[in-house]
Amino acid sequence: MKKYTTLILVGFIIVLAAGLAGTLLYLKNQPPQERGFEPIIEIAPMEPDSSKWGINFPNEYATLLKTGNNNTPTTYGGSEKFSHLIEDPRQVILFAGYSFSKEYNEDRGHQNSLTDVRAIKRVDEKTHATCYSCKSSDNPRLWSEMGMEAYDAKMFSEMTPEIQNPIGCANCHEAGTMRLIVTNPALEAALQAQGKDWQTFTRQEMRSVVCANCHVEYYFVGDKKVLTLPWMNGTRVEEIIAYYDSIGFSDWMYPGAETPMLKAQHPDFEMFTANSTHYQAGVACADCHMPYLRDGAAKYSSHDVHSPLLNPEQACGQCHTDVDYVVERVKTIQDEVYKAKLAAEDAIVDAITAIQAAAKVSDVDPILLDEARTLHRHAQFRWDFVSAENSMGFHNPEEVLCILGDATNLARQAQMKAAQAAHAPSILETGSYYTLPSVPTPVP
Ligand code: HEC
Ligand code: HEC
Ligand code: HEC
Ligand code: HEC
Repeated sequence: MKKYTTLILVGFIIVLAAGLAGTLLYLKNQPPQERGFEPIIEIAPMEPDSSKWGINFPNEYATLLKTGNNNTPTTYGGSEKFSHLIEDPRQVILFAGYSFSKEYNEDRGHQNSLTDVRAIKRVDEKTHATCYSCKSSDNPRLWSEMGMEAYDAKMFSEMTPEIQNPIGCANCHEAGTMRLIVTNPALEAALQAQGKDWQTFTRQEMRSVVCANCHVEYYFVGDKKVLTLPWMNGTRVEEIIAYYDSIGFSDWMYPGAETPMLKAQHPDFEMFTANSTHYQAGVACADCHMPYLRDGAAKYSSHDVHSPLLNPEQACGQCHTDVDYVVERVKTIQDEVYKAKLAAEDAIVDAITAIQAAAKVSDVDPILLDEARTLHRHAQFRWDFVSAENSMGFHNPEEVLCILGDATNLARQAQMKAAQAAHAPSILETGSYYTLPSVPTPVP
């Protein structure tokens, strides 16, 4: 009897083991799991029309369209097109002699990119097509057909008929594979110049790099106005300034002071990647600006890219349990940065006034005056690198406060140098040289 029980038991174990081995073998030979989508239509390479991609990916498309209807302002950002010149009239002085003193508005959602660039007063008959570079999903196709140089050499108005679509799928994705890609040849070149090949980047890296197709500092090279990123020495503000100095580049001459000026664009990527806490922790732009949403069982990235302060539960709550606390931290950081930014502006305006006064003095020391101009150029670009960045310091608070401290210091040095050059210590008086200009409210 005992013998039979053992036999049955052994037989049972053998059957079980065979069953398990079979199951494992079956699982091992299954094809690898695919990302859960079946293409319904074939999307042409670089297809500019996002609605076609939307047939295959309705959730991504529907959320992308929402960027057109956002209009909620936040304290320092959001999607309402308010004027930075009205909000802070010092900027009219800081950009005197340059188009940014005419009109300078807060950014809005991706779907508005074409409407907004066509409405801006900064664009005139001398504007090159280069200014369309970050605004349209037609660009990847046009760049591959005509080359970036020929595209940039055209005038803005000449290119207008070719540009039909605002920012869309083709700016960030490769049709077919749907992987994130670098679509802007200027970014590809800048990475190459640093010995980097984006094709080797991880998926998490690409979740930030794809934004660098547009959210970066850039300048235009030569008469053809070829779009170029000034990253040859690196992407920190001092490395960018050193690069611009080495090629003698300037955007405009400051009237009366004759300082060769630099205008910063929107160095969101450079600021974020300059060792910010979140970047060092491996967090990407898309984590905060494109959080995951659910549609039944399917998980997808919100393509309604906007201020995370409008949906902090989704944007921050995936990682931070105390969402109220981190939102409060954003407020504290931004308020402090805003104060430091205004202090830098006051210092730069004083420097400008001092240099203008010194330039009028007949026996001014030309060498000291030039040194004052260089200090002004460096101070203002630092300030602008923070001011033109879109997060009022949140992306990298330590870096931002450090840059603003340097800007204020350099501006005060510029003011002192100008006084020295003019043998006129009275120029050192601060804050008494200007009254804030009144900016007319634009007709809506
Ligand atoms: C840890 C979260 C986080 C990460 C990561 C992040 N951001 Fe932000 N971003 C914010 C917050 C918070 C603001 C401030 C929004 C405001 O003031 O309304 C902001 C503001 C912005 C704005 C202006 C939004 C507006 O309302 O006008 C832009 C543009 C932007 N970020 C782009 C980027 C890019 C590009 C990256 C990556 C290089 C990035 N962000 C990484 C949290 C983040
Ligand atoms: C093809 C260029 C391009 C790419 C790529 C791009 N952006 Fe933008 N982004 C823009 C432009 C241009 C605007 C301003 C549009 C306007 O004001 O009409 C903008 C605006 C924004 C805003 C402000 C939205 C608002 O409601 O105020 C945020 C936030 C933002 N982008 C984040 C990102 C993030 C994050 C990425 C990467 C996942 C990214 N962008 C990729 C060009 C781009
Ligand atoms: C500004 C850049 C940008 C634009 C424009 C954009 N995407 Fe994305 N998309 C992303 C990012 C970033 C991710 C996250 C990818 C990842 O995690 O690997 C993503 C993810 C996706 C995914 C993977 C599933 C998911 O939702 O996470 C699909 C599918 C997709 N996008 C479709 C589209 C379609 C369709 C369009 C046009 C209607 C579009 N995207 C426009 C940046 C963009
Ligand atoms: C993908 C994960 C992730 C997301 C999303 C995220 N954070 Fe963080 N955050 C971190 C990590 C990791 C740290 C590093 C400190 C830590 O380990 O707690 C951090 C740190 C911080 C800090 C402290 C900064 C410092 O220098 O000590 C603040 C403030 C903060 N986050 C705010 C936010 C806000 C606001 C949002 C949403 C707009 C957000 N975070 C979204 C992961 C995230």
